[in-house]
Amino acid sequence: MACSTLALVLGTVALVLLPGCSDDQDPLGAASLWQRIHDENYRSFARAPGYETRKPSDAPHNDQVDIYVNAVVGDALGAGKKLSEWPTGSLIVKDGFTDSGVHAIVAVLDKRQTGWFYAEYFDLESGEARYSGTPAICVGCHTESNDHVNAFGLP
Ligand code: HEC
Repeated sequence: MACSTLALVLGTVALVLLPGCSDDQDPLGAASLWQRIHDENYRSFARAPGYETRKPSDAPHNDQVDIYVNAVVGDALGAGKKLSEWPTGSLIVKDGFTDSGVHAIVAVLDKRQTGWFYAEYFDLESGEARYSGTPAICVGCHTESNDHVNAFGLP
């Protein structure tokens, strides 16, 4: 806990500066989510609105990001209806790259019946998560105003 509190205080550079920190609340849930995004081949998903190509990022998710959304998010965006929250089943996957193009992290938001499940993976060989569940460091920066999604707005 102290670690995530410190990380929150430090803000945007925390994830980079505190590599020893972790808040892996649900390692099994994170492992099955890792399996799922690969089974579903997340890189074949549509790109998030505004992220049609790789974009620089000043969030603590590396220097550049690709963001993908599954069909549940795509359908919600295309339905022409105003929503106050993203539907259950929404899945958003973000690849983070260093400036030299090294793929360094995968971050995921998975909308479950119980709410958003967060996961961030730093070991892309084993798929081991460093953060999973509802880590304060993640939730604190993903404000409630757009139902936790930072990169693009609700329809
Ligand atoms: C300091 C603020 C900050 C923290 C901490 C943070 N994020 Fe983010 N996150 C952002 C911003 C800003 C974006 C918008 C896209 C970008 O610039 O990379 C984003 C985008 C994302 C996305 C793409 C969907 C969206 O909401 O736009 C995912 C998935 C994500 N973050 C997961 C996580 C996870 C998991 C954690 C915790 C390990 C986390 N984030 C912690 C700021 C933050």
